[in-house]
Amino acid sequence: MPKVTIESLDDFGRGIAHLNNKVIFVENALPEEVVEIEIINDKKSFSEAKVTKYLKFSKNRVESICPYFDTCGGCNLLHLEFLNTLIFKQNKIKNLLKKHKLNYDKGLEIVKNDNPIYYRNKVSLKIENGHLGYYEENTHKLVEIKECMMAKHSINEVIKNYKLLHLENAKLTIRSNYNDEILIIIETDTKEYDIELAKLKEKIKLVGIIYNNITIYGENFFYERINGKLFKVSYNSFFQINENITSKLFALIENNIDKDSIVLDLYSGVGTLGIVASSNAKEVYSMEIIKNAVLNGITNAKLNQKTNIKFMLGDVAKLVDKVNLAFDTMIIDPPRKGLDKKTREFILKKLPTKIIYVSCNPNTLMRDLKELESIYEISDYKILDMFSYTYHVESFCVLKRK
Ligand SMILES: C[S@@+](CC[C@H](N)C(=O)[O-])C[C@H]1O[C@@H](n2cnc3c(N)ncnc32)[C@H](O)[C@@H]1O
Repeated sequence: MPKVTIESLDDFGRGIAHLNNKVIFVENALPEEVVEIEIINDKKSFSEAKVTKYLKFSKNRVESICPYFDTCGGCNLLHLEFLNTLIFKQNKIKNLLKKHKLNYDKGLEIVKNDNPIYYRNKVSLKIENGHLGYYEENTHKLVEIKECMMAKHSINEVIKNYKLLHLENAKLTIRSNYNDEILIIIETDTKEYDIELAKLKEKIKLVGIIYNNITIYGENFFYERINGKLFKVSYNSFFQINENITSKLFALIENNIDKDSIVLDLYSGVGTLGIVASSNAKEVYSMEIIKNAVLNGITNAKLNQKTNIKFMLGDVAKLVDKVNLAFDTMIIDPPRKGLDKKTREFILKKLPTKIIYVSCNPNTLMRDLKELESIYEISDYKILDMFSYTYHVESFCVLKRK
């Protein structure tokens, strides 16, 4: 078996090594480790490998606290000492800024997750032939699990009792809120259901079950409470998956909205960031594509006694063309694909003085920052550890017009 020394980590937390001048990405291998490898995927310009024997361990290696780490595709950094997972994220962003030749020299502060395990308030699992689990990374091979250490305890209670749902093949999404209440969302080809409701309700605080988009028990929404603000969230509306980091994100938004500014809040979900911004702002205009989320947003403005926020339903790329709004500040929190060309052009036409860009995908964020670079400078960049122990990075960026 070939022997290699791991030099660094790639963006997905895999070890990088070289063999015969070819780059090799090695699963479950950390910098400074010496390992014997087996090539599992040999491409023209790179290879992928797995470790067959560790000859020297890294001092930063820890034993994974999750028994499914070796096979499950959910988390990627559980073999790395926690502080080093944050350094990994810092390096990832530093390297991306450098790769895109973006200027930012103020330091990348990490906003820490106070509870880096049992934090997720939403998980999506697969049930195949009655077995429940996640898929192995980049495959459709089920890894059966009995617990997920990233999910909140309330979600794990559902996982423990999933047999009460009597599902053979389905996608099972479990959501939980600040009060550990539960929404169960089932998508399946099977029309009939046979759920042991009474027993399930003894185990969990069940708010609703949505079966193929039909509410078959209770409600199809629950309420979230963050920093004293209350939000109605429908089963198919987005909500940030980490309550602790969301609370810190709200504080960052509040601190960065100038008094009496006029804010355009794109990709607004249930109105969270716009509602937070509306405390300082004179007016807020929020845009979102999911109807339930917009309806939730309208309710949430009322629940939080906000009268200076308006919601628009539709695709941001189309809405920005139609509305003729005067605004000086933007909040942008797009899905992973980032901004489309139309929206970037809209920004460069309107030239707001400040843009707060919240992103769950640093690759598309960098692309968008590069497009805006001639007019906007990055005045603050923070890394939010929203997805602890995974390679995913949430970014909070403030751009100011030069
Ligand atoms: C990352 S979430 C942010 C939501 C909200 N800002 C929050 O913090 O809860 C992105 C949101 O964009 C919405 N979305 C996705 N594509 C969109 C589009 N083309 N136009 C408008 N909204 C869109 C999604 O439904 C989702 O609510």
